[in-house]
Order: sequence, then structure tokens, then C-alpha cells
Amino acid sequence: MVPPLTPQIAHIMDHTMNSNNKPEKEPLTLDQLVKNIHLALGPDGGLDSEHIDANEILKLMEEYSSNATDWSKYTIFDHSRAYTRNLIDDGNGKFNLMILAWSKGQQSPIHDHAGSHCIMKILDGELEETQYEWPNESKNNAAKNTKDDDTECNCKSSSSSSPSSSVESSDITEAVQTSSSLQSSELNGNPLRTRKCTRLHPNEVAYIHDKIGLHRISNPDQGRGAVSLHLYTPPYQVCKTFEEKTGRSRMGGKCTFYSIGGHRCTDSSS
Ligand code: SIN
Repeated sequence: MVPPLTPQIAHIMDHTMNSNNKPEKEPLTLDQLVKNIHLALGPDGGLDSEHIDANEILKLMEEYSSNATDWSKYTIFDHSRAYTRNLIDDGNGKFNLMILAWSKGQQSPIHDHAGSHCIMKILDGELEETQYEWPNESKNNAAKNTKDDDTECNCKSSSSSSPSSSVESSDITEAVQTSSSLQSSELNGNPLRTRKCTRLHPNEVAYIHDKIGLHRISNPDQGRGAVSLHLYTPPYQVCKTFEEKTGRSRMGGKCTFYSIGGHRCTDSSS
């Protein structure tokens, strides 16, 4: 005969069983997500490693449910920039997990991902992702970046600018340069073609890779900031940015950190 439940045991069971009498999963904390990503990526490398597939990491990112108590310490806004990049974990060189804090009404430049996988989850507010096709002249470089699918992609990308790229490097989080500031001689080329535009809501996850195309992330809300969680593997330090009206790659976008582990970086530490 089953003994009757004591009030204490009944209380615990109320909180650990769902209505189908199945054990309820505890919500994943951000720290647990970081541990799970380390476990999933293992000792052998990033997502390009043969035994790891991007879907596994996508699922892990989906399992985490946004909780501001987890991420607020990493979230530092700076309204003089389009957004800030705040590193949570450097994945022992295999990945970068970071919080991006988007100023109201601001956007990233259109950019590639230097051959890395980019998985992004909305934590607060809403963001818009516009994906673009590669401009023709850069397609070959994209193929080069992704062909080998190894960490060397980062180096290739930063040094394999198309002949029409300008050489100056600036931080990717700076306000986007408009075409009116380009020399008139530079205003030739074809506009980038949009693949799709998606409005992303809290806890939704998006994925992009150079094999898919380029993208721009925007915070369409003029009244409030937005926060997103980004996983890049392998990590990269420089990417290419693109002019929407001409398809020209304009400069190397330096991907620096505004803070690391919740602490503001000095210029030399980022
Ligand atoms: C993104 O690629 O989604 C945002 C750009 C960045 O990492 O700075």
C-alpha cells in the first residue's frame, strides 16, 4: 500500500510535476547555458568541427528563457553608439557568447560573419533582421571564407577584402555611415538584394552564416533599447561591412568588446 504523502512531499511534487504528471524541467540559467555550450562544443573546436552541428547549439539557445536577473549585469548601454558588445564567455577560444545592448532606433551596418556561425536570441525588446544576398563581386570571397570551414576563416576574411573595399577599419558599433558621405566616384555598383526581413520577439532565435548571406540588425523602437544574446563560433575580430545602395564593402568592421564579464573595457583590453 502506498503511504499517504506528507504535506511537505506533496508541496515538492506540486512544483516538480506538470499537469500530465511528468517531471517539470527547471528553467535553464544563463550560467547553465554557458556550461552546456562548453560541453556541446567539446575540446575539438567550434561548430565547424565534424562532430558538432549548428542545430544542436540552436536548440541549446532555444532552451534558455530570458531572465533579466541573469543578464542585466552584462548589459551596458551606451547611447552614443548604435549598440555595445558585452562579452560573457570567450569559450576558451572556441566561441564568443555576448550580450548586445541596442540603443533605441539604432542599427548595425550590413555585415558578414567572417566565416563563423552566428546564433542570436532576443532577450528584451524586439529586433529586426534584414538578410541580404552577397553582392556579386564578393561572392567569391564568401565562398573562400566558408570553403575550408576552419578557424583560419577569420584570418582570410580580414585580409581578403574585395578590390573595391576601402581599407580603413572602424568599430562595427559606430553609427552607420550613409551613402551621402561616400565620394561620388564610389557611388557605382548595384544595390544589395534583400533576401528577407524578420521581426524577432523575446526568446526567438535566429541563425546566419556567410553561406546564407549578409545581414543587418535594427532596433526599430525609437523609444526603448533592446537586448540580444549572440553566440559566434569560431570567434572573430574583424568582419566586412557593406554599403546597401552600391553593394560595396566599405571597411573592416572591428568587433571589439565594450565590457568583459560585466566590467567596462579600457581601449587596450577590448
Ligand atoms: C550580429 O552579427 O548579429 C551583430 C553584429 C555584431 O556582432 O557586432
